[in-house]
Amino acid sequence: MDRNVHAIELYAQDRLTSGRAAAALRVRGARADDAERLAAIWNTEAVSTLNTTDTEPRDPGAQRAWIASHSALYPVVVAVSEDDEVTGYAALTPYRPKPAFLHTVEDSVYVDRAWRGRGVGRLLLGHLVELGGALGHRSMMARITAGNAASRALHESLGFRLVGIEEAVAFKLGRWLDVALYQRRW
Ligand SMILES: CC(C)(COP(=O)(O)OP(=O)(O)OC[C@H]1O[C@@H](n2cnc3c(N)ncnc32)[C@H](O)[C@@H]1OP(=O)(O)O)[C@@H](O)C(=O)NCCC(=O)NCCS
Repeated sequence: MDRNVHAIELYAQDRLTSGRAAAALRVRGARADDAERLAAIWNTEAVSTLNTTDTEPRDPGAQRAWIASHSALYPVVVAVSEDDEVTGYAALTPYRPKPAFLHTVEDSVYVDRAWRGRGVGRLLLGHLVELGGALGHRSMMARITAGNAASRALHESLGFRLVGIEEAVAFKLGRWLDVALYQRRW
């Protein structure tokens, strides 16, 4: 009983801390000089986890080119702490390279490991949802490795709906992976 009460208090404290962390963050557009930081966040996930089907690391030059390739219609945003540290980033990219898909976008969201569970992902993805609507996009898609519970829960909490599972479509780190396809419509 005592232990339960203690657990509830700890949980409440966590939520309070999360709230403060998220409140202290601001979102801005990504700049070329964010490239090194974005590459560091990205490379860990691409190279050593099953959180994404991407596999290739980016050097700062490749990351700068990636930022530059995003036009105003497909923004990249970063969440910055009070100390000016980039804690995570998120982007919209075209879903298919065909004119008919101009207003269907795919999102990506990456949070530095040290900042996870503190509201950064929700802040970034929520911001992209607002931006995407304002830019006139019609659908936002997310392709998430099926075992990535955090990303699936984050997307579901922001109104994304599971529209299908692609079975064993990606091979990474010695495993065949299912990919869950999510959609949010404006
Ligand atoms: C997925 C990711 C972006 C979430 O960012 P985050 O800042 O840790 O998430 P938040 O603190 O904003 O949490 C928002 C919601 O996400 C979900 N969530 C976050 N971490 C979770 C976890 N470990 N397990 C289950 N759900 C989780 C919850 O629904 C949470 O809402 P709640 O706090 O009300 O319960 C982050 O874990 C990450 O960068 N992962 C590695 C890269 C990645 O998987 N990117 C997505 C590729 S599709």
